[in-house]
Formats: sequence, C-alpha cells, structure tokens
Amino acid sequence: MHQYSQGISTKQAHKAIPEGCFEEEQGLKGFFGPVSHLIKKDPSTRWEIIDGPLKPRMFDLVPKFSQVGEQRLLFNKDVSIGLKVVPVSANNSKTAYRNADGDQLYFCHLGCGVILTEYGLLPYSEGQYVVIPKCLTHSIVPTEASQFLTVENRTSHYEEPDRGLVGRHAIYDTAALGKPNLEKMQEFLNAQSNETIEIRVKRLDQITRFEYDRSIYDTVGWKGDLFPFTLHTDDMMPLMSHRAHLPPSAHTTFVAREFVICTFLPRPLESDEDALKVPFYHQNIDYDEVLFYHKGDFFSRDNLHAGMMSLHPAGFPHGPHPKAVKSIKGKTHTSEYAVMIDTRWPLEVDPSSQSLELADYWKSWQSK
Ligand SMILES: [Fe+2]
Repeated sequence: MHQYSQGISTKQAHKAIPEGCFEEEQGLKGFFGPVSHLIKKDPSTRWEIIDGPLKPRMFDLVPKFSQVGEQRLLFNKDVSIGLKVVPVSANNSKTAYRNADGDQLYFCHLGCGVILTEYGLLPYSEGQYVVIPKCLTHSIVPTEASQFLTVENRTSHYEEPDRGLVGRHAIYDTAALGKPNLEKMQEFLNAQSNETIEIRVKRLDQITRFEYDRSIYDTVGWKGDLFPFTLHTDDMMPLMSHRAHLPPSAHTTFVAREFVICTFLPRPLESDEDALKVPFYHQNIDYDEVLFYHKGDFFSRDNLHAGMMSLHPAGFPHGPHPKAVKSIKGKTHTSEYAVMIDTRWPLEVDPSSQSLELADYWKSWQSK
C-alpha cells in the first residue's frame, strides 16, 4: 500500500506532535510492516470500561519468587514463559537437567552462581541471560539463592538479531558473550564431593529420569558452534537516537521464529526539544507483548515494582501511564531494566498464575 495522509500529520514519527494531541502508531509485523500514525485529541488508553477477556494483565511474581521451584506463567505453542527459583543446596550438583522441548533461556533476576554443562562451567549473576540450547545437559548451582525468568523456545532456536545498518558489533559484541570454561569446570568438580549421576529430561513436558553409575560431566574437550553461553546486561549497548524515539525492536536481544526477546536498559532520553520521550501509544497489531520488570524506575508506568510482569495482548492500544507522561519532563535518563517478550501468536495465561494477577491493572491508565 502506498503512503497516504489526511488532516493533521507529522513529517517525522514521534516528533513535533501538535500541542495537546497524542500520536498513536498502528502497525503490522512488529514495527517492520505497514504502519500509520494517528494524531488524536486523547490517548486511546482512556477507556472507562473493558468488558470481556481482552484486558491488559499484570502479575506480581514477587510472592512466587519466594518459593523454591518452577512455574509456567504464560504460553503458546512456540514459547513457554515461567519462573524458576533455586536455593543454595549441596544437592544441586547431584542432578542435571536436559530440556528436549526446546532451547532454554534463563534471565537471572536475583542471585548468582554457576551452571555446570558438558561444555564447561558458566558463571552467572543478577541481570544475566543464560542460553542453553535444546537438549544440552546442565545443572544450576547457586552460590546465592537464585530467581530466574525462564523463556523456553519450543519451535525454533535462539539467534542473534539482524543488526542491519548499525553493524555486527552494535547492541552487543559477540566477544562479550560468556563461553563455557572446561578448565574451571574441572576445578569445580575436583573441589566437590558430589558426582552428577542423574539427568532429568523433559520432553512433551514430561520428565524421564536417567541414572548413571558415575559423573556425567566427563567431557575432556570439544569443538563446534553449538554451546551454551551467557550475556550480561552490563555488556549490552542500547541503541538510541537523540532526535527521535526508537521503537522497541531497536532493543532486540534474541530472535526466535515466532517471538523476540528485547531488553530495555538505562539510557539517555531524547534531547531534541520536540522529541517524544516516553514510549509512543501504539497497537503492535500482530504481537502479544510481555514485559518483565527486573530493576530500576519503570519510567513509562505507575505503581510498579521489580518482579512484576505485564501481558498486553494484541487488540488494544497501549502506551505510557498519564503520570509518567507528566513526570518525564524533568528527566534526562531512564534507569529501567526490563525484559520484553513479543509473541507472534496469542499467549494463554497458565491457570496457576491467575492468583498472582492484579485485577484492576486495566484501570491504571485512568487519571486519578
Ligand atoms: Fe507494545
């Protein structure tokens, strides 16, 4: 379709929005497809009633993070989003885990430790992604009790984003990826008495237990381009334009076939006088959007704390809360750390996470 406009329009998206008006982006294919910008007198988030299943949802995961174990929160056929809490225990290294349902991504929300793998030892700490490709055997051994957001990729494999015009070292340099260390793994195994003799394999969400007579971590060397790795948010370099707000897709960290993972990190705000500084109101029409709030001051939202997770399904417009629009005026930087998962197909809420839901979240855009 060719470009067309009527009435008031801007010559650059997210910039010089007429005083007293609001811009709403409606776009296909996750910020890459056909898109229009509507200039409106009021934001579309000023609903008074939403009657039906399509509501923005908010979950407070903090109570769940205080319980050991794992829980699925949201899912569709491509992705399963959940949380996992691992305590410090001498038994952690006795058992290994293998996910035969897909690539397993852990985002460490709190805690630190090491992950044992057949490829070597991977240290992790708060704010770090750990990517374990499908079926690679591993054991999480925290030195401090650890809380993870987990994202299982069930229909493809995690890949790096296409960095296009900004070149292959933008966003993060692959030299900054944490690689497994076989020598450190050997030192770790020598220093401890437990041998890892059990592997729990998950396939079609059912566990099969394999038991061995001696340690399964017996690799003496390896080569190849399939291995687990880590990426710390400290090693990520957010893209920005000082002149106009960039879409969330500029912050893509990992790409799967039917979903993407983006990371929002502290950055300077746009400095042009007429630039929009809060995320624009939008309908990312093809995608459901999940945001996990890891740390900091969540500048586009009100009444949020770390450990919360929102689900904004496709089908309704969303954008900053009214309070955030006012409070952004005195700010020059963001300090938020958040993980976003945008899924191509609708997500379902796991029944067990309904107890974590804040029922009135959909009302939170209303000016008080
Ligand atoms: Fe969005």
